[in-house]
Amino acid sequence: MDIEYKAFDSKPGLYSYINEQLQKITEETKDITAVLANASALLMMELKTVNWAGFYLYKNGRLILGPFQGKPAVAEIAVGAGVCGTAAETLEVQIVEDVHSCCNHIACDIATNSEIVVPILLADGTLYGVIDIDSPVPARFDSEDADGLSRAAEIISNAVKS
Ligand code: SME
Repeated sequence: MDIEYKAFDSKPGLYSYINEQLQKITEETKDITAVLANASALLMMELKTVNWAGFYLYKNGRLILGPFQGKPAVAEIAVGAGVCGTAAETLEVQIVEDVHSCCNHIACDIATNSEIVVPILLADGTLYGVIDIDSPVPARFDSEDADGLSRAAEIISNAVKS
């Protein structure tokens, strides 16, 4: 598909662009695996200083690895375990500035220093999965990332429904 390449000087501007592209991705197919595969590629391509971008999907009470870009990762995460499991338990965005000082982080890539995990909720409020993004840069993620990725999670949620 056509993905435009552009430069942005603000994070909200970048996320606005990313989410426009994500919306187009969801309109190309009803197959959610295809949507998530392209979404992970889009996030990895557009977000700078990121070494892992992808999804864990909530199935049978656990988070199961979904489409992603980056090194091979842990395949299953219990709710409450690690940063992803904490997001799944609390249904709230988790931002970890330093994964090495975080007591509840599951290491997948030694290069990772910071992480953001955003829950994807369905219209009825139930958990569909999480967006997980890792960076080698300490404190790489902030509230602007949380806002932009929360919008991405909404777009994906809408694609699951349709
Ligand atoms: N670090 C995550 C596990 C998944 S990897 O980052 C891809 C966590 O603590 O939940």
